[in-house]
Amino acid sequence: MLARTSAGPKLGVLASGTGTILEAILDAGLDVATVVVDRPCRAEEVAERAGVASEVVARKDFGAGFDRSAYTASVVEALERHSVEVVAMAGFGTVLASAIFERYPGRVLNTHPALLPAFKGWHAVRDALAAGVAETGCTVHIATEAVDEGPILAQEPIAVLPGDTEDTLHERIKAVERRLYPATIASFMTSIEDHMETRT
Ligand code: GRF
Repeated sequence: MLARTSAGPKLGVLASGTGTILEAILDAGLDVATVVVDRPCRAEEVAERAGVASEVVARKDFGAGFDRSAYTASVVEALERHSVEVVAMAGFGTVLASAIFERYPGRVLNTHPALLPAFKGWHAVRDALAAGVAETGCTVHIATEAVDEGPILAQEPIAVLPGDTEDTLHERIKAVERRLYPATIASFMTSIEDHMETRT
C-alpha cells in the first residue's frame, strides 16, 4: 500500500473508460478527493464502490463545434469544488484546453500506453503494432497543453509478442501502468507536499 493521509495535497482523477487505472490508484491507497468523468462509464462505478465522490461533466458535442475552452472550465470548476491540487488523468478521452494547465501548472499527470515521445495520441497501442516495433511500453509524465508531451516521470518497456493484438498488448501495458502510475503519483504527491512545506 502507498497509503497517504488525507492531510496531503488533494488528488483528483479524470477518467472516461473502464477505470482499471483508477481502480489501481484507489487500491494503492492513494486518497482521491474526486473522480471526474466526461461520459457515463465504469469509472463512475469504481469511484462509487470506493466511496469517492464522482461528477459527470458531460461532453455533449464530439463534433467540430465542440467548445473545448468552456468544457475545460467546467472540469476545472468540478475539481475546485473538491479543493483538488493535483490532477491525474487516467484514460480521459477529452483533450483539455489551456485553462486546466494554467490552474494546475506542473500538476496534471498522465499515463500513456507507449514509450513517449514514440506513438503519441489515442491509438498508441495500435500504432506501435502497425509500426512493427519489438518493444513498446508506458510513460507517466507531467501533462501540458500539447498532447502527450511534458516532462517524463517514469517509463517502462514492454515487449511486443508474436500474435499480439491491440487488446492483448494493451492489457499487458495496462498491467504495468497499474503498478507504475500509482507509485509515481505517490512520489509526486510527496514532492509537492515537501515543496508546499518549504514555502510556509
Ligand atoms: C490506459 O492505457 C491509459 O494509458 C490510456 O487509457 C487507458 C485507460 O485504461 N490513456 P482504463 O480505462 O483505466 O482501463
